[in-house]
Amino acid sequence: MKAVVFHAVGDIRLDEVPEPTLEAQTDAIVRLTGSAICGTDLHFVRGTMADMVPGTVLGHEGIGIVESVGRDVKQIAVGDRVVIPSTIACGQCEPCKQGFFAQCNQANPNGPEAGTAFYGGPKSTGPFQGLQAEKARVPFADTNLVKLPSTISDEQAILLSDIFPTGYFGAILAEVGPGKTVAVFGCGPVGMFAIASAKILGASRIFAIDTIASRLEMARSQGAEVIDYNAQDPVEALKQLTSGRGVDCVIDAVGVDANHPERGLVDRVSPSKRAEKSQFKQEVKTVAPKTNPDGDNWHPGDAPSQVVRWAVKCLKKVGTLGIIGVYPMQHMSFPLGEAMNKNLTLKMGNCNHRKYIPELIDLIVRGVIDPSTVVTQHGHMASAIDAYKAFDKREEGWVKVMLEPQAAE
Ligand SMILES: NC(=O)c1ccc[n+]([C@@H]2O[C@H](COP(=O)([O-])OP(=O)(O)OC[C@H]3O[C@@H](n4cnc5c(N)ncnc54)[C@H](O)[C@@H]3O)[C@@H](O)[C@H]2O)c1
Ligand SMILES: [Zn+2]
Ligand SMILES: [Zn+2]
Repeated sequence: MKAVVFHAVGDIRLDEVPEPTLEAQTDAIVRLTGSAICGTDLHFVRGTMADMVPGTVLGHEGIGIVESVGRDVKQIAVGDRVVIPSTIACGQCEPCKQGFFAQCNQANPNGPEAGTAFYGGPKSTGPFQGLQAEKARVPFADTNLVKLPSTISDEQAILLSDIFPTGYFGAILAEVGPGKTVAVFGCGPVGMFAIASAKILGASRIFAIDTIASRLEMARSQGAEVIDYNAQDPVEALKQLTSGRGVDCVIDAVGVDANHPERGLVDRVSPSKRAEKSQFKQEVKTVAPKTNPDGDNWHPGDAPSQVVRWAVKCLKKVGTLGIIGVYPMQHMSFPLGEAMNKNLTLKMGNCNHRKYIPELIDLIVRGVIDPSTVVTQHGHMASAIDAYKAFDKREEGWVKVMLEPQAAE
């Protein structure tokens, strides 16, 4: 079968790979009818989430039809139409029972302390073969597959696999509630769902920060007040917009590949700005010891801690920061003293997808939200690498790419 395979930093290919088989009686094999490319995949190719094993099939977002199940799979049957939550969990251990599926004690073959298990990730996450393929093996299928109602389209369903639950999780982490003011950093696909979720949870005003015009436009069309960080200092702008107080909640939907402003702000080169730039340079070296840019592609962000620095500054006293942007283990930079002295609350992590998917299915069925508006591109698997490149370059108009694996045949 065809699949997108990681070969090295800056080197991914569409390869012919063996089809997956059942490895345990709790497994299922799913024939994928939809997959997608995520900002998380970009970290691997850019080198800012290191330790990928060559030969790993990429991708952790998928929907499909169950093709076979092991003897011990009871809730899922051959022929079911399902969404695959990105993170893998056993459903039985203590964290799973409490809803913390991303901290499952059993799913990660590297042991209970290893952290989140997910498809198509670095060695420390399994590794498990990913979902940008024609078929995939799903461990603990009773927990890691969720049946889809027929009223939900494929285009809506693919967003339930990762980014809608993650945006929703971000809004919950940031303690968004009725009447709160919320700043969302990053207007990629995850940021879009953080905005939508903040709205669902009753935020009074939502501010969205990015610099890509088409993404800011999409955020505006969802009701956010937008700030281009290359045109305005986002901290000053957010203070002005909140009568000097700052915002109640911040969601970091950018992560390690954050950039610092290109124009305007860096023109006013002060000693403190120079020190900040050299600090960012050091951070990039630490998080991405190996990079392999190719023309305009696969460039790591140039300011890994930019967003958390802005977040701590623009929050009001006693505000809450929810971090869903991904950072690698080696990343140590955070303005702790400033956050401590403002009595801020910090919450973060990988989404417990399995916990939120059923309630989000319900929101779609009831017509509260149509997530499919975020899908801007459809691609056949044959053009997956080109799609990766366009998404990586953040070409205008490219927000979420849905791949159709079966079209490769
Ligand atoms: N926690 C989780 O479970 C989870 C799940 C899925 C994705 N993620 C993470 O969420 C993040 C976003 O994913 P995505 O698919 O939307 O990625 P993306 O790369 O498409 O979007 C990131 C956006 O951030 C913007 N940006 C860069 N620097 C910025 C800055 N200083 N201020 C404001 N915006 C800035 C970029 O222009 C881009 O639009 C990634 O780090 C991804 O790994 C986390
Ligand atoms: Zn994803
Ligand atoms: Zn578990």
